[in-house]
Amino acid sequence: MDVLLRKDGGEEEEEEEEGPSPGGGRRGQKAQMKRRHEEEEEEEECAKKKLVIDHSVKVASHYNSLQEVGLAARSRSRIFFMRNFNNWMKSVLIGEILEQVRAGGCRRVSVLDLGCGKGGDLLKWRRGGIDHLVCADIAGVSVEQCQSRYEEMKRKSHINEKIFKAQFITADCTKEVLSEKLEDAELQFDVCSCQFVYHYSFESEQKADMMLRNACERLKPGGFFIGTTPDAFELVKRLEASDSLSFGNEVFKVSFGSKGDYPLFGCQYHFSLEDVVDVPEFLVYFPLLEHMAKNYNMRLVLRQRFSEFFEEKVKKEHHRSLMMKMTALEPFPLEDGDGQTTGSSGEYRHAKEHCARAGVRPPVGTLSRSEWEAASIYLVFVFQKIS
Ligand SMILES: C[S@@+](CC[C@H](N)C(=O)[O-])C[C@H]1O[C@@H](n2cnc3c(N)ncnc32)[C@H](O)[C@@H]1O
Repeated sequence: MDVLLRKDGGEEEEEEEEGPSPGGGRRGQKAQMKRRHEEEEEEEECAKKKLVIDHSVKVASHYNSLQEVGLAARSRSRIFFMRNFNNWMKSVLIGEILEQVRAGGCRRVSVLDLGCGKGGDLLKWRRGGIDHLVCADIAGVSVEQCQSRYEEMKRKSHINEKIFKAQFITADCTKEVLSEKLEDAELQFDVCSCQFVYHYSFESEQKADMMLRNACERLKPGGFFIGTTPDAFELVKRLEASDSLSFGNEVFKVSFGSKGDYPLFGCQYHFSLEDVVDVPEFLVYFPLLEHMAKNYNMRLVLRQRFSEFFEEKVKKEHHRSLMMKMTALEPFPLEDGDGQTTGSSGEYRHAKEHCARAGVRPPVGTLSRSEWEAASIYLVFVFQKIS
């Protein structure tokens, strides 16, 4: 108001007006301007709200529109090994957490898969022998596909195998309270798994808090909230090192609107990854998430960059053999070099150098440089509910 008045008439604001005076004049003009300004503010507010709504809709429609492709098409993808690698990381995390839950004496395990997508982790829950699964996601089509995969898994399972019970919920988990939608109103979870999802909630404090509430409020004491999300420190480090507002390579690109100022919530960037992801995301400033989690009685047990988690877990034989089974690394060199995922020079230099330095006889398992640059953005986290 102050600024508007000075711009238009060089006036100083005198006193508060409720509305225009009947005869018009200066006071009337001033009141009209005030009203116009208020209307403009209201419009701005509405536009902001619309933007927020559009963002959720955008994310949902992006994931809804992703086609399910068969194994043959997946294996031709430029990021085939990286996707397998990410899957292995999730398998190891989920497997170890379920072991801990069982070691704590739990016989019947219930899990919430927050942002379940098309059910990419269903097999991991089956392998983990859980009893009850609740899958929730904002993208309705994905939830339907997740449910169909589950039904098919049940249909095809061995007669002696008891597949877990499951419920599927389509909901914006940054806005809706999941516990109100549970078929079993008393249900409590041993684990909430939130894989590659939490960053969508950091658009605002309210959204991040609602996602956290959904993750934690129904956890049993001692229960775990686990997940994977981009590491904000790594993203900002790479942005600051770039001479533009973006960075990336032939498989992924991250673009920010500006540099130098990183608000705690709503710090948006655009992430695109081959043909899989092409959406706005938000920086998750981890110390803040850790602080917010305390409101739900959660303490941080583990936070590790993908590189650290990988280096630690790959030492164990059973994780290594799962890695082979899941083809989580690309053999290098292939006898027929043409079969390598990419022919670009430099994409496997690190593997060559490693063999030379460590005196290892090839072939070795690796990821192309571009895929590793994308995978190494992420971190793994584990929170536990204080008993
Ligand atoms: C990268 S995918 C990960 C899917 C799955 N967790 C996995 O690891 O395969 C991200 C998922 O988060 C979901 N998502 C994004 N925002 C959400 C929200 N507000 N509420 C619930 N799900 C959301 C998307 O619909 C999408 O399925």
